[in-house]
Amino acid sequence: MICHRRKLYFVTVVCLVALTSIVTLSYLWVQKSSLLPKIIRQKASVCSGGIVNTSITALTDNRTFIIAPYFDNRERKMTRVIGIVHHKEVRQLYCWYCCQPDGEIYVSRALINVHSDRFGFPYVTADLLCLEPISCHPRYMSIDWSDKGAIGQLPRFEIQNRKADISPVEFTVCISTMFGEYNNVLQFIQSMEMYKILGVQRVMIYKNRCSKLMEKVLAFYIAEGIVEIIPWPITSYLKVSLMWHYTDDGTDICYYGQIVALNDCIYRNMYRSKYVLLNDIDEIILPSKNPDWKSMMSSLEKQNPQVGIFLFENHIFPKTVFTSTGPFNISSWRSVPGVNILQHVHREPDRKEIVNPWKMIVDPKMVIQTSVHSVLEAYGESVKVPLDVALVYHCRVPLQAKLPKEFLIQDTTLWTFSKSLIRNVNKVLPKIL
Ligand SMILES: *[C@@H]1O[C@H](CO)[C@@H](O)[C@H](O)[C@H]1NC(C)=O
Ligand SMILES: *[C@@H]1O[C@H](CO)[C@@H](O)[C@H](O)[C@H]1NC(C)=O
Ligand SMILES: *[C@@H]1O[C@H](CO)[C@@H](O)[C@H](O)[C@H]1NC(C)=O
Repeated sequence: MICHRRKLYFVTVVCLVALTSIVTLSYLWVQKSSLLPKIIRQKASVCSGGIVNTSITALTDNRTFIIAPYFDNRERKMTRVIGIVHHKEVRQLYCWYCCQPDGEIYVSRALINVHSDRFGFPYVTADLLCLEPISCHPRYMSIDWSDKGAIGQLPRFEIQNRKADISPVEFTVCISTMFGEYNNVLQFIQSMEMYKILGVQRVMIYKNRCSKLMEKVLAFYIAEGIVEIIPWPITSYLKVSLMWHYTDDGTDICYYGQIVALNDCIYRNMYRSKYVLLNDIDEIILPSKNPDWKSMMSSLEKQNPQVGIFLFENHIFPKTVFTSTGPFNISSWRSVPGVNILQHVHREPDRKEIVNPWKMIVDPKMVIQTSVHSVLEAYGESVKVPLDVALVYHCRVPLQAKLPKEFLIQDTTLWTFSKSLIRNVNKVLPKIL
């Protein structure tokens, strides 16, 4: 009897499991097939909308903002459109592809993949994932909330990364969002020159605003071929917050859209750079054993073959704590606005209850979605780089302002680069100012 009951129980469970699987699988199948692109019409003349050349584009729903579409075939042949959406109000979006030369139109429903780090704000970074038609490799696409109607006039976006760049650079630094009357000229120039000493070939800056003098500095580095500016007029579309979390103050998005800028920077450099560094302009990923990033990364890579994301611990060097040791109070620098990092070599000690944040060097090809201090989704593993290999030198206002100088840790790693840093800054300053 017990045996029989057990058998019945077993059969029921098996049946239930089978039924659930069938239901789930068919649901997934239906969902997946509804994402497949469909040919909707054949007419060569309709693909005539203007080509978008702005870095933030509002769709007609006013709830979706497109940064750029990127071809992504790491899993399937699809387009990943980096954008910003209202997390509640945007329910459906469609990718429209125009296949030349025969003029077939395909429309694909986008999977709206909202990033998990929304911090309570109404607007959030999103990847709009669209399957591309199998039979062609469209150069342009449009995005709309409707899968019907005349798309002829919709603005067209060029799909980036269609071709992998043949000769990528080694290191690109992504600086997300320069804003306000940013005028910390000396520290900016010192950071740039440090990046160059450490091996940077490109610095991408998402620029909202800055001071007049800073414009001159940027123009110098653009002409030098190091800096690339992505105009970032996010304030024309959304109310930005200076806090990282939502405080119910009517703002729309976190920190000038920093996270969407970082994600865009990863994809923009996917085939253009072997490594991408995600840090702010007042931060330098500073090796203590190696003379540059290349030698540091080659030894880190050897020790961590499966890793695509290297995390570096952030340490605060307060700009309020000076050192008078060393010949670093240079008279020709005194008229330049901003912080002289060479005079700040004391770092705040760790606090018991607080974990120091991390900044990253990543292989962009291994990243799917990134946040500021870690990646959200990736193909490779992450590793925390030990403090004796490198740290993030972060010179800013203190976090532990009340702590007297003698409780800070003197760390003069930066001074090992001082000779070349001073020489290079002295070469650059007269050309700019
Ligand atoms: C963008 O396009 C507009 C109009 O099509 C044109 O006036 C403008 O010069 C273009 N800007 C850039 C940066 O190419
Ligand atoms: C979108 O915003 C523009 C400018 O604020 C406004 O003129 C337009 O009516 C808005 N469209 C929708 C659909 O809300
Ligand atoms: C730098 O030197 C000048 C002139 O000797 C002095 O007035 C100033 O206080 C020094 N600044 C710092 C931060 O040491």
